Amino acid sequence: MAPDPGLDYVVPWSPKKDDRMPPSAPPLRLASLVTALLLAAAPAWAQDGPPPLTPEETAAAEGRYQQYCALCHGPDRAGYANDHAPSLKSPQLFAAGFTYIIGEAIAYGRPGTPMGGYHQEVGGPLSRQDIMQLTMWLGEQAATAPIELPDGAVTGDVALGAKVYADSCASCHGAQGEGGTGTALGNATMLALTPDAFIRHTIENGRDGTPMLAFRSKLSPAQIDGVTAYIRSRSAGWTAPDPIRHAPPALDAYIINPDADAPRFALKDDLYVSAAELDRELKAKKRMVLLDTRVTSMWERAHIEGAVPGPYYASREEVMANLPKDGTWIVAYCECPRAAAESVVRKLREGGLKNTAVLWEGIQGWVSLGYPVVPGNAAPKVAGQP
Ligand code: HEC
Ligand code: HEC
Repeated sequence: MAPDPGLDYVVPWSPKKDDRMPPSAPPLRLASLVTALLLAAAPAWAQDGPPPLTPEETAAAEGRYQQYCALCHGPDRAGYANDHAPSLKSPQLFAAGFTYIIGEAIAYGRPGTPMGGYHQEVGGPLSRQDIMQLTMWLGEQAATAPIELPDGAVTGDVALGAKVYADSCASCHGAQGEGGTGTALGNATMLALTPDAFIRHTIENGRDGTPMLAFRSKLSPAQIDGVTAYIRSRSAGWTAPDPIRHAPPALDAYIINPDADAPRFALKDDLYVSAAELDRELKAKKRMVLLDTRVTSMWERAHIEGAVPGPYYASREEVMANLPKDGTWIVAYCECPRAAAESVVRKLREGGLKNTAVLWEGIQGWVSLGYPVVPGNAAPKVAGQP
């Protein structure tokens, strides 16, 4: 697993309000899919986003679509050719999901459903660049301007939402969110990589040309909030006890298994630990700290159990303040899939913490490979939070 070579061009613009990437990385090389996707998700991409695909890139992307996707999503992207695969042309999907959510769905799939992960890091045939081009191509075909949706949690009455779900959704999405005519709303990977606002937007607005109707005029805003919160509350498993949102560990409880031995990591390139290795050492209950280096709203959506928020935008002093300095292993991860975690580990190593590592596959690879995540508590106040 060599580090991703990245794309061979430099993005000519920088993210606008999006603060998910380290602000100090000028100009950002498209070294990761999500860097690309987040940047492309800048609202006015049609005016000043990434350059349109060249004719060669368009032909390559369309070829890959027909080769890998048309079987289920249909040669014309209308969906429903096989396995109830959703439409890849509805304006609502492209307004709310372009590019980030659509790109993540292609890269990491919805394990347990017919939608596999196509990224090489989870065993698929496509590189980051292939996936980015395919996502861009789908966006160009759909020609719908993306809208900006808030990142944070939708709060609502989960009990009310459970009733709405049973009455109005289960017939298509399955009593346990397992899917049917509709997609699998209980899918752990979908929930980990999909913000609440996207789910709410879909319920409110439906998807043109598909069986998913707009519930705007059928349900009250409180019912829509409730069913969104209910779906989120199922993200550690449909039968998980409720409520299941976790508060971040107290500052003096950052260490997982404080009385145990150190884990044994065979780091690649002196930096990366694989998901399989991290899972093995967590299951063996080894002593370590897990640092979730993403913006804290993403920690809320889903994180590896025991991980503490240590966002990349916190200063070295802020991140270091609560970390053990006694050689305890610290594993950082993000969803970029590595850039934010690498920037934090760089700070920690400069600060003298040598037993530090970055999760190679990022949390998307982690959840897509079937390792567990838990949702976090709303709005924890942590070091470095603006
Ligand atoms: C074997 C059938 C199959 C193939 C092949 C397939 N998909 Fe899918 N895809 C599905 C199904 C089924 C779902 C919905 C899964 C769920 O959540 O229940 C899905 C979901 C998606 C979604 C999420 C859409 C949404 O509404 O959130 C995207 C994007 C997507 N597929 C893109 C692709 C692309 C691009 C390819 C080719 C690289 C591809 N799929 C190949 C079956 C397939
Ligand atoms: C008549 C069947 C049907 C009913 C009833 C229904 N849905 Fe759907 N839903 C679908 C289908 C089909 C899709 C995929 C549409 C597409 O092709 O994009 C979908 C998509 C969605 C998505 C997007 C998921 C994703 O993977 O992107 C959400 C969220 C959703 N539905 C929530 C709900 C909720 C909540 C309810 C009840 C209030 C509901 N749906 C009722 C059929 C249904």
